[in-house]
Amino acid sequence: MTLTTALRRSLVQGDVFDGGYAIGEDAVQEQVEGDAEQALTATAGAGSVSFRQVGKIYRSSAGEVPALEDINLDIPAGSVFGIIGRSGAGKSSLLRTINRLEQPTSGQVLVDGVDIGQLNESELVRLRRRIGMIFQHFNLLSAKTVFDNVALPLTVAGVPRQKITQRVNELLALVGLQDKQDTYPGRLSGGQKQRVGIARALATHPEILLCDEATSALDPETTHSILALLRDINRRLGITVILITHEMSVIREIADQVLVLEQGRIVEQGEVWKVFGAPQHAATRALLAPLQHGLPEDLQARLLQRPPASGRYEQILALGYSGESGLEPDFQRIAQALPGDQRLIHGGVDRIQGHAHGRLLLALDGKTLLPDFNRLTRGPEAIAHHIEVIGYVADAVHSR
Ligand SMILES: Nc1ncnc2c1ncn2[C@@H]1O[C@H](COP(=O)(O)OP(=O)(O)O)[C@@H](O)[C@H]1O
Ligand SMILES: [Mg+2]
Repeated sequence: MTLTTALRRSLVQGDVFDGGYAIGEDAVQEQVEGDAEQALTATAGAGSVSFRQVGKIYRSSAGEVPALEDINLDIPAGSVFGIIGRSGAGKSSLLRTINRLEQPTSGQVLVDGVDIGQLNESELVRLRRRIGMIFQHFNLLSAKTVFDNVALPLTVAGVPRQKITQRVNELLALVGLQDKQDTYPGRLSGGQKQRVGIARALATHPEILLCDEATSALDPETTHSILALLRDINRRLGITVILITHEMSVIREIADQVLVLEQGRIVEQGEVWKVFGAPQHAATRALLAPLQHGLPEDLQARLLQRPPASGRYEQILALGYSGESGLEPDFQRIAQALPGDQRLIHGGVDRIQGHAHGRLLLALDGKTLLPDFNRLTRGPEAIAHHIEVIGYVADAVHSR
């Protein structure tokens, strides 16, 4: 068995790309000769994905497990699209229907308008070349060098050696690993391994890149650099990036649109700043809780639901910002709109897609008569999108 045949066989058996190439070997063989060209050609402006009433039920000895129900969705070409949801919500199942690693039980998945359920095996091989995929645990071949890992999809497609070398060098430059081509994965850091994964996923000029928890095994700094690379790839190469994550900060950092899955159904979807600024569904709120500028513990412990019967106290006001209509915390206007002295005791503002989001907690003297919050959250006099008294603190909130 030649090396290429062995590689093809391992791809066919699906132990390299997480089952990604688990199709008949004959089909791959047949395809190889004619496909070297396709594997080296980029298609501009392509990479949209649509779901039409997609449902997925896993049937196992334990019975039926419904994983996806009534999924209707359009992912525009060239976007960065995030999918979030609790563990078991169906995220991976949804992502894996895009390259037919999973077959929907009902409905259709369309890639650039083509119903991929109708493709024969050789068409499926071609489709999978147009869709790269990266994984949480990288899925690299430990016995192969960085160069050979990246070259793998091209070797399988029968691309001539010289062209492979040229393309792999391009890819290693793109991900910043030129000096690592002869290194084995065992000697790379997590971030470097994922860069190899990305280079390999891009080898055949895909139009779509699927990322299943691609940064979940990385520390925050490395996550940031991988996200910057994905954003760069999206912008420079126009590749549609579809990513699953349980880290909301990842979505906030790079996604254009976000979709929330709950028990196999879409419960919320839209531009990231809108969904994050005003989450409608309980599942979304629960997922976003770690991002909120919630109450610090010491304050939580002291917070009373009613003003104390005697003695001095402070009322704690929360000002919320959802990103709508350019409204930002403006201290001068806040000070003018609210009577008495105010101290900022906790909170923060993030910018998502250029929209200011956040929550500020202010302490005001208990005796201060508060104005009408309706007036201060609407129209030209608005100082925040949402204002409420969240409780009272006996004496005063002090910094220790
Ligand atoms: N191959 C499978 N066989 C049976 N059930 C599965 C299989 N894959 C996933 N499931 C079930 O389908 C549901 C959705 O799983 P998954 O798509 O992996 O969710 P997520 O990625 O959001 O954690 C879960 O209940 C899971 O246990
Ligand atoms: Mg998953």
